[in-house]
Amino acid sequence: MDKKLLIVGNWKMHLNVHQSSLLVHRLQERLSGHRSLEVVIAPSMLTLQPLSQQIDRRRLKLCAQDAYFKDDGPYTGEVSFAMLGDLVQYALIGHSARRLYFGEDLDTVRDKVQAAIRNNITPIICIGETKQERDAGETKQVLHDQLTTALMNITSKEIERIVIAYEPVWAISTFDGILAKPSDAQKALRYIRSQVEDLYGKRVAEAMRLLYGGSVDNHDVRSYLELPEVDGVLVGAASLNYQKFVAIVNQAHQIQTERK
Ligand code: PGA
Repeated sequence: MDKKLLIVGNWKMHLNVHQSSLLVHRLQERLSGHRSLEVVIAPSMLTLQPLSQQIDRRRLKLCAQDAYFKDDGPYTGEVSFAMLGDLVQYALIGHSARRLYFGEDLDTVRDKVQAAIRNNITPIICIGETKQERDAGETKQVLHDQLTTALMNITSKEIERIVIAYEPVWAISTFDGILAKPSDAQKALRYIRSQVEDLYGKRVAEAMRLLYGGSVDNHDVRSYLELPEVDGVLVGAASLNYQKFVAIVNQAHQIQTERK
């Protein structure tokens, strides 16, 4: 199976237009465009338009961090997936910051996944349990509920375009930031793949790209990417530092070469 590793940098609410442009410039100077990898950045909404003109698509692709599920209408302050269609190839959906800070519920995530698909944007659906849920032994139930609702009404054709990122909330740098053991990531990703298999069959489950995210940096990325279950990483804090992010991409390239 020939899956490209997917490395995604989530810049969150950091960097203004000028700073974003500078970081893209630095990244493009150092990334050589590996054909076996996809390198994606998710800058703030404000910078997507100028960066779409600056990026070299052989090296970098753009991802939105969020968008609204209606295509247009009187939704003051929102930007729709329809408006982003020409700018981005990917969109994060249901990131834990959206769920926890902005009260995004399961149904909203489901509607956003459909809006992204409708507008030809590949959803990267983020799922993961909080520390409290993990301590209460609810991890599988939480992952099951988040996954099955997000995929509700997704056809067997559409599912081929979807990416799932497992990000345990307790491992994200902005929340508890405890580094997850690779075996924790492995266990959860196996469970997620088995759920996809129950819903869509073995072929789809094996072909689906599953990412891991949560305090991934240039020192620990290898331990996650070496897991056979992992098809890429979602990187937050470390993606704001070009040296760290380039080191992550280079290691991914090395691992991809070793895998072949
Ligand atoms: P982190 O963020 O790498 O800073 O933990 C990951 C994320 O929130 O997507």
